[in-house]
Amino acid sequence: MLVKFNLNGLDVEVNVKPGEYLIDTLRNYGVKSVKKGCDGSSCGACTVLVDDKPVLSCSLLTAKVEGHNVMTVESIQDEAAALSECFSREGADQCGFCNAAFALMVHALKKENPHPTDEEIKDYMVGNLCRCTGYQSQQKAIKAFLGGKK
Ligand code: FES
Ligand code: FES
Repeated sequence: MLVKFNLNGLDVEVNVKPGEYLIDTLRNYGVKSVKKGCDGSSCGACTVLVDDKPVLSCSLLTAKVEGHNVMTVESIQDEAAALSECFSREGADQCGFCNAAFALMVHALKKENPHPTDEEIKDYMVGNLCRCTGYQSQQKAIKAFLGGKK
């Protein structure tokens, strides 16, 4: 079946199998920043934004994005690079597997709540797991980024 949607500002038309999930469609389309961590709605690594809201692409049927706007980290590269600098300044791990989803979550958080408290950041990011470390440095980095500290 054909599904039409907007991907990172471009109108695309993809041929998908019935029951195909968005993560597979995007990766087949060449968007490899979207990662399959658990494939079971538990890790957040597959997060993309649909109409500016974070969704788990491993649990969203591609047919559901017909006519919607899908955004991956490719469309916010400068912002992701700035966030990455904050991460490295705070000594937060960045494995490349979770990074893209983190950047998209922070982008969405900034739109929804530009001045979040520590607790609000924690709550917002709770679905994005990191297998490498604790979350304190990441939390500090996000706070610095949202506070505009370079
Ligand atoms: S791959 Fe989708 S939540 Fe883990
Ligand atoms: S830094 Fe990516 S999973 Fe921990």
